[in-house]
Amino acid sequence: MFLDKISACKLDLNSKLPELNKKVVLDIGFGDGESFCKDVLENGDIIFIGIEPYIKGFSRVVEFYEKHNVPNLYVFNGCVKEFLKSTKIKFDFIRIHFPDPWPKNKHYKRQLINKDFLELLHISQTPNGMLQIVTDCTKYQLKILNILSQQLNYSFIDKFPLKFNESSFAKKAKKNGNPIKVFNLQS
Ligand SMILES: C[S@@+](CC[C@H](N)C(=O)[O-])C[C@H]1O[C@@H](n2cnc3c(N)ncnc32)[C@H](O)[C@@H]1O
Repeated sequence: MFLDKISACKLDLNSKLPELNKKVVLDIGFGDGESFCKDVLENGDIIFIGIEPYIKGFSRVVEFYEKHNVPNLYVFNGCVKEFLKSTKIKFDFIRIHFPDPWPKNKHYKRQLINKDFLELLHISQTPNGMLQIVTDCTKYQLKILNILSQQLNYSFIDKFPLKFNESSFAKKAKKNGNPIKVFNLQS
């Protein structure tokens, strides 16, 4: 099982920092890892640090690393807040694609994106670092817009320089006819 395997791509909270001599992207919640692995392969000039608490997806990405020996990939199995509070890495790009929507009012507090989380992201970015948030949940889109309108750390930009492959959640959103909203932001 790749979850328990010792692998150079795995980061833990005490890991020595990898040598980061290229631009670094933080991918928050890469899910099943399928589109994430394609992005890693197609962007060898960028270092990807992926965070995922879901064990199956995490193990799949470690397996991908071991089989393809991709030097630009690191992963952390756990919560992104825990990771960011302990790391000294500053990220050129951060992306959050299809964060769990938790659409019911009683689960609202479980949503990852809120004012405090955006502040944590901001202090974890390089000057002029960029953030991309994608969601097909209309309620979440409105909440994000509302939070963004009340902060000064990020401004909207037209384009995000990093392209990405379509994930299983993106496919599902399209199939269901849900409106996908992409927020491209810069510090
Ligand atoms: C709806 S899935 C989207 C997966 C992928 N980004 C995609 O576009 O297909 C949301 C992912 O966020 C992960 N997640 C939830 N809470 C998280 C947290 N606190 N830190 C990091 N990832 C988290 C979940 O485990 C899940 O895999």
